[in-house]
Amino acid sequence: MIDYHCHILPNIDDGPETMEESIEMAVALQKNGYDTVYCTPHLIKGSYDADNKSVMASVNNLQKKLKEKNIQLKLIPGREYYMDEFLFDYLNNPMTLGETNYILVEIPNHIPRKYAKDACFRIKQKGFIPMIAHPERNKLFYISQRKKSLLESLLSLIFKDDGLKSKETTLLSYLKSIGCVFQANLGSFIGWYGERAQNTADSLKERNVYTHFGTDAHSLNAVNLLMNNGGRQEG
Ligand SMILES: [Fe+2]
Repeated sequence: MIDYHCHILPNIDDGPETMEESIEMAVALQKNGYDTVYCTPHLIKGSYDADNKSVMASVNNLQKKLKEKNIQLKLIPGREYYMDEFLFDYLNNPMTLGETNYILVEIPNHIPRKYAKDACFRIKQKGFIPMIAHPERNKLFYISQRKKSLLESLLSLIFKDDGLKSKETTLLSYLKSIGCVFQANLGSFIGWYGERAQNTADSLKERNVYTHFGTDAHSLNAVNLLMNNGGRQEG
C-alpha cells in the first residue's frame, strides 16, 4: 500500500520532532501493510519554509536509517503546497510527488472558489497535475447528505448525473474537468475532522472522486490511532 500524504520527516514542519519518532512511524506504517510513503512536509511561507534541498536530504537520511534497521519502507520525496499568494513563487522550481507530475496542494478554507479554480488551472498550464489534498476538509467541497427522491434518482440515472447538486459541485466539476486528482485523508472517514468532512468524504468516495489516499499523519500517535480505529485503506 502507498501513503500519498504523510508528515513523517523529523523536525521539518509540524510532524515528528525527532528521528526516533520518524523511525517509529515508519515501523508502524510498515507493520500495517504500507510499502511506500510519500514524505510531504508543508511548504507555507512564514510558517514552514524548509526548502526542497533540505527535504531531499531529510528523505535520504531517514531512508538510510530505515535501511540500517532493515525496515522495508520506500520513501519518496514530495511537498504539501499551500494555496496562497506565494504558491507560484515556489512553483517556479517545484518538488512534485517523486517522479510524477503531481503537485500536492492544500486549498485553505478562506480561499475563494474562483481563486482555487484559477490557481489549479495555472498549475495545469505549467505542466503539472494538481493533486487536491483532503478536499473533504474544505468547505468549498462540502456535500450535504440529503436523500434523493425517487424521481431525482430516476432522472439522475437517465441523464447519468453523478448526483451532486450543481451549487455544491461547481468547483469539484471544474477541477475534475481540467484533470486534477483528489487525495482523501483516511482519518476523514472515521470522523477526525468532524461530521461534515466525514459525510463529504463518504460521498466523494461513493462517487469515485478520490484517486489517492493518505494518512496525513503528523506523529506516531496519529498513525497508531488511525490504524487501531479503522482508518485503513482497502487493499
Ligand atoms: Fe498534510
